Amino acid sequence: MNRAVYPGSFDPFTNGHLDVTERGATIFDELIVAVLINSEKRAMFSVEERQMMVREAVVHLPNVKVMSFEGLLVDFMRQGRSRVILRGLRALSDFEYEFQIAQMNKQLAPETETFFLVTDARYSYLSSRGVKEVFQFGGSIQEFVPPGVFRRMRERILPKKMA
Ligand code: PNS
Repeated sequence: MNRAVYPGSFDPFTNGHLDVTERGATIFDELIVAVLINSEKRAMFSVEERQMMVREAVVHLPNVKVMSFEGLLVDFMRQGRSRVILRGLRALSDFEYEFQIAQMNKQLAPETETFFLVTDARYSYLSSRGVKEVFQFGGSIQEFVPPGVFRRMRERILPKKMA
């Protein structure tokens, strides 16, 4: 079975992430979206919430599974999941970061291969950080995230606004 892992923080999962997942699901027999349990980075959503939001967004993709991982990605890969890492690549600015991660992973686990999908032009400006920032300053994010993510983000802010 040709299985790939699509890792990320997904805080939150955007339409750009969904596009990479949908396209990845047509290339690999099975695609695991692996949500990083990230203790250092301050996340807006818990790992359970992030996983739930991804699950809702990919419910139409039967060969996509959602899992979480902690620590090194290569350790997760070595637990028998896969040797293929899938990442989306937006602009040139992503390249250095992605290049470093890919080479570090290759150094740590030479059997792993990183595959990049060039982000669809419709989503080339989208990032989780950008979505959070627009949201925090009251801008509309509906067009940037799957409906379930939008709903949960609104639920998150409504009690604060009413206070
Ligand atoms: O969505 P992100 O935050 O850009 O994803 C980054 C991610 C999760 C792919 C990367 O930080 C990662 O794999 N972290 C786990 C720790 C690890 O394996 N580090 C070694 C590679 S630098």
